[in-house]
Amino acid sequence: MSDAIAGTLLTGARAVVTGASRGVGEAVARSLVAAGAQVALIARGPAALEGIARSLGNRAFGIPCDVRDSTAVQRAVAKITERFEGAPTILVNNAGVFPFAPLQELTIDEFAAAVDANLIAPFRFIRGLLPAMQAARHGHIVTIGSAADRAAFPGNGAYAPTKFGARALHEVLRGETRGTGVRATLVSPGPIDTAIWDAVDPDNRDGKSGLPRRSEMLRPVDVARTVLFALTQPAHVNIDELRVSFS
Ligand SMILES: NC(=O)c1ccc[n+]([C@@H]2O[C@H](COP(=O)([O-])OP(=O)(O)OC[C@H]3O[C@@H](n4cnc5c(N)ncnc54)[C@H](OP(=O)(O)O)[C@@H]3O)[C@@H](O)[C@H]2O)c1
Repeated sequence: MSDAIAGTLLTGARAVVTGASRGVGEAVARSLVAAGAQVALIARGPAALEGIARSLGNRAFGIPCDVRDSTAVQRAVAKITERFEGAPTILVNNAGVFPFAPLQELTIDEFAAAVDANLIAPFRFIRGLLPAMQAARHGHIVTIGSAADRAAFPGNGAYAPTKFGARALHEVLRGETRGTGVRATLVSPGPIDTAIWDAVDPDNRDGKSGLPRRSEMLRPVDVARTVLFALTQPAHVNIDELRVSFS
């Protein structure tokens, strides 16, 4: 596909990407802008968002927001709609945390924080953005799941339940929006080399950890390409679920 065609695929689209300050969310935001969309970038830290928005010219802007705060999410949705001068047409629910610990070490606070960021936050954004999409009979909501949304790995005692839940939320959304003009896609990647792995440090664990080395993992841009594939199908096509892993 020529760059000229790629740059018009999402012309007119107004996208919200959560967790856009680095990693997968940043790569998704960059690819949506390259495809012609305007993008609202959500994360907590304003500095990273400002830097990314600046590098994307006038096609993106940052809205600092803690996705665990319902009031802050409501305010962010209102600000984004005002900045876009219209309701968003694409939501990529990507922000997430990965507390990696065996059950006997995982704290209740870590578990609750993971449920809040990985499961309730996607619902907060769906609740904020779906009504306008339904009214317009147009929109697309992408959920970034994980290999751990179907398989429960050791160390994922908090993470896997949140991602199983996020997949269930996606499946309900898909069922409720079928035939309404609003599309829903779950993208479930295997390990991706991002900062999420820094605390786990898979390259310095013993060979029995079962974790891949960072050099073997997917890259954020691989996930961005997958998201773009789902978003750029003809209007009558819904990609329900894509599972992506390193070869
Ligand atoms: N990396 C992997 O191996 C992998 C594999 C499968 C699926 N995933 C999923 O991919 C998504 C992105 O992960 P990543 O690897 O790109 O991780 P990452 O590099 O750590 O990025 C996480 C993003 O989420 C944001 N975030 C976290 N908590 C937030 C909060 N309370 N409020 C607002 N933003 C918050 C972070 O921004 P701030 O910290 O600035 O707020 C950051 O932008 C997650 O849903 C993850 O579960 C990752």
